[in-house]
Amino acid sequence: MSANRINLCKVIEFPVVADYRGNLTFIEENRHVPFEIKRVYYLYDVPTGATRGGHAHIELEQVIIALSGSFEVIIDDCYTRKRIFLNRPHYGLYISPGIWRELVNFSSNSVALVLASMPYDEKDYIRDYETFKKMVRERFWDESDRRVAEKISKIKNKALQITKKEGQL
Ligand code: TYD
Repeated sequence: MSANRINLCKVIEFPVVADYRGNLTFIEENRHVPFEIKRVYYLYDVPTGATRGGHAHIELEQVIIALSGSFEVIIDDCYTRKRIFLNRPHYGLYISPGIWRELVNFSSNSVALVLASMPYDEKDYIRDYETFKKMVRERFWDESDRRVAEKISKIKNKALQITKKEGQL
């Protein structure tokens, strides 16, 4: 599972309840996202040209949603780099453990909502790309990847394969 780990990252489509009063989207843990939601945080007032992220996680799973505006998420498993454009609040990008990510090209007034599987823990961060590469080569995430693949196959909502490299969905 070392060369195609990026395929564990999926764009998930959430339910939309639409009527004349507007749209409503809801997300339930272990149903629409493949983990228990232990933390929510959001990025906003991001200045033009700023990059967020720039790290990987040992265990943390996340779903990133463009609640407002748009931005791109670059995901990288050390072999493949993909660029996912998010601009609608009923889509979320699931990022499995052991994936390097950067958030770039924030539009003005954009809000990036992040659902996370664990409370904040700096020890879970890998902030050095060389360390990340070494861990991938040593197959650090093999066991975790197997668990993630199984969990993703069970979530009820549509998980769309990310097919394009460095492109828009
Ligand atoms: P940082 O990891 O640099 O944000 P990004 O994901 O955009 O790279 O986090 C910035 C600061 O915020 C850092 O000092 C850690 C702190 N922080 C928390 O205290 N709790 C959190 O849930 C998060 C995500 C960050």
